[in-house]
Amino acid sequence: MARTRRPLIAGNWKMNGLQADGIALAKAVAEGVRQAAWADREVLVCPPSTLVLAVAAAVRGSGLLVGGQNCHAKASGAHTGDVSAEMLRDAGASHVIVGHSERRADCGETDAIVRAKAEAAWRAGLTPIVCIGETLDEREAGRTLAVLEGQLTGSVPGGATADRLVVAYEPVWAIGTGKTPTTPEVAVAHAHIRKVLGGIMEGATSVRLLYGGSMKGSNAAELLAAGDVDGGLVGGASLKADEFLAIAKAA
Ligand code: PGA
Repeated sequence: MARTRRPLIAGNWKMNGLQADGIALAKAVAEGVRQAAWADREVLVCPPSTLVLAVAAAVRGSGLLVGGQNCHAKASGAHTGDVSAEMLRDAGASHVIVGHSERRADCGETDAIVRAKAEAAWRAGLTPIVCIGETLDEREAGRTLAVLEGQLTGSVPGGATADRLVVAYEPVWAIGTGKTPTTPEVAVAHAHIRKVLGGIMEGATSVRLLYGGSMKGSNAAELLAAGDVDGGLVGGASLKADEFLAIAKAA
């Protein structure tokens, strides 16, 4: 069977967007996606949870996918302020980001928590985008590959299949800094991620591996051409429709 890894360009809006600007942004991205009618790639936006429902309604029929940025591991219950994977699904999401480094750092999310969230995503019928990545200290200590391996084995649940898992490699030092690893550095990390996945699941050659961290229109083609890169997880540059669509075009 031919190896099929359809590129995925995912926008992570983080804690940005009130109704007016968020819906306008989503509509502009959706219009670009509708016009391009790409059959060979997927485009996803992950607005803050307050906007998932409205964004999903605004982009319906365009081909643009909508996701959440986080979910709780439980389906419902006494968890004030949290949102479940089922709620995201109900609001129109198809994907959810889990284990973003900002949540690992700000909210103390461990690999075990991230793993439970990925399982929750499956339970609700969502595809988790599991984020991993080394800090600058870890990179400088030559520990990048070991860190990625530890995070992967800790965060990816057993029973993963390629159609229900996306992994995003996001070096923490590259997020929002304008710095990126070189293309060979990205390729080395992604090759290692695929190798580690091969030891913990079936069909690892078909899992989509996204690169994230200061990806923008001007560097997307180069980063996306690195070996084993199947798309991008885009923060800052996903807040401008033209810039984000330029990245999707480069995929
Ligand atoms: P950035 O963020 O593109 O703004 O660096 C990426 C991310 O955190 O997903």
